[in-house]
Amino acid sequence: MAIEQEFSTRLLAWFDQHGRHDLPWQHPRTPYRVWLSEIMLQQTQVSVVTGYFDRFVTALPDLPALAAASHDEVMALWSGLGYYARARNLHAAAKLCVERHGGDLPPDLDALIALPGIGRSTAGAILSQAWGDRAAILDGNVKRVLSRLFGIEGWPGAPAIEKRLWVIAATLLPDARLADYTQAQMDLGATLCTRADPDCSDCPLQVHCVAFREGRV
Ligand code: ADE
Repeated sequence: MAIEQEFSTRLLAWFDQHGRHDLPWQHPRTPYRVWLSEIMLQQTQVSVVTGYFDRFVTALPDLPALAAASHDEVMALWSGLGYYARARNLHAAAKLCVERHGGDLPPDLDALIALPGIGRSTAGAILSQAWGDRAAILDGNVKRVLSRLFGIEGWPGAPAIEKRLWVIAATLLPDARLADYTQAQMDLGATLCTRADPDCSDCPLQVHCVAFREGRV
């Protein structure tokens, strides 16, 4: 099997056993809930987000409800989560979706990125999880995983390195199970391939990992 295929096959098999399958935004997995979760999860851990997510979707269960809500209600629901620009952008984006897209999130990379608060990786996370599209993600966790796997040295935020990592991320995409594949990458980066003290002995990708092989983890 080619390395590209083997990467996703191994990662998905690991995810089936060890990944997170009962996150609140996975049941049901609507575009609105996926989007809200991805914005809340920017710079914030899953354990902190779940309670806020549940309260938010109980109060504002869909995109038109968010668009129609007052600024004060949105900010009150976000209160304590931090990085409040996220809430302002979320609210503004919901109103734009009502104006431009009939009250739905657009299932399109460029249209998503045109909305406030949605960068390329968040757009990829939304497309893959909400619609099963073959869209890559590249957040901090995934950058670390791919840098180790391919032995790429240097600051992953450097434009040349980031460009290379996007190409690799796109090359590794499987043909099916894209929502699970996105979640699997997040889960591997958050639980095994951690920044400090990664658990290489339990890693499904160890046989392919350049950093592991060369003692450069
Ligand atoms: N960080 C960003 N998106 C995430 C997700 N879907 N699961 C866990 N952590 C995340």
